[in-house]
Amino acid sequence: MLEKINQLKQSAMASLSEVKTQKELAELKVRFLGKTGEVTNLLKGLKDVPKESRAEVGKLVNDLRQELEPAFNEVESRLAAAELLVRYENEAIDVTMPGKKPARGTLHPLTQIKNEIISVFEGMGFEIFEGPEIDTDYYTFQALNIPKDHPARDMQDTFYITENILLRPHTSPGQIRCTETHKPPVKVLSPGKVYRSDDDATHSPMFQQVEGLVIDKNITLCDLKGALDEFACKIFGNDTKTRFRPSYFPFTEPSVEVDVSCYKCKGAGCNLCKGSGWIEVLGAGMVHRNVIENCGLDPNEYSGFAFGVGVERIAMLKYGIPNMKMLFENDVRFLKEFDK
Ligand code: PHE
Repeated sequence: MLEKINQLKQSAMASLSEVKTQKELAELKVRFLGKTGEVTNLLKGLKDVPKESRAEVGKLVNDLRQELEPAFNEVESRLAAAELLVRYENEAIDVTMPGKKPARGTLHPLTQIKNEIISVFEGMGFEIFEGPEIDTDYYTFQALNIPKDHPARDMQDTFYITENILLRPHTSPGQIRCTETHKPPVKVLSPGKVYRSDDDATHSPMFQQVEGLVIDKNITLCDLKGALDEFACKIFGNDTKTRFRPSYFPFTEPSVEVDVSCYKCKGAGCNLCKGSGWIEVLGAGMVHRNVIENCGLDPNEYSGFAFGVGVERIAMLKYGIPNMKMLFENDVRFLKEFDK
């Protein structure tokens, strides 16, 4: 029996010294110290030991258990520490690795163009005045010299909310709203969304305009031409020329349609300008006497010019965008083209 105890001790210590993982160690623990393990088996064999030495042998077996347990524990904590170290090493983060770049958004091409237009006119001293998108018949039509039943109301297929309240079909109501509170000299730019019942490749039920208005003493058509020349050069390139063609708006007199020389063929004639060398970009004119009066000013003392430019139209012309829908679909592949 004593022999057996010694052998067991040696074999346990030998196995312990070879164990490499916590899993192996656990198996070994079961094998030696478990309920049906070898040490317990020794205790069971005590009944075959002669009575007189049974107590002594029993003590030896218990001693063995008490010796083995701390030995197992020691190996266990050593292995746990080593395994933790390996885990830490595997999970270590290389802080010098380049990070993942989050995809960055860009300003929408319409916002870019709108900002460009605004900054050109801000450079000429214009201030921003924003009117409401829902407006009344008075500000939208009557005050702009478009009385009820005037055929010009058909020019803008307006979305009416009630008989008197509507979605503005142009930014021109800003002319009246602004001069109600600002006294001359007035020099404002009124950007914003406008709505018309119109929908095809070059028209959308919602689009954006930038309205310009200048009212002061001695404002002439030359001032309008000068301001729009500057605008055309800044937006379409320095060698761009402008041309006025007679037109009609009820709120301006005289009224003009403004063309810019084709920046693609430089006026020679191409598919963009349909062979004419010129591209129509906006409507403008000298503020009508009746409108000056509706602004609360004396038309014999004050004169002014106004213009209205479509932001989508400028974007389409400048970037050669064939269909206005592309500006509203927000296809990222399209938008990425405008990442400056
Ligand atoms: N309001 C006109 C339109 O929407 C544009 C315009 C503005 C024309 C100012 C002349 C003066 O078509």
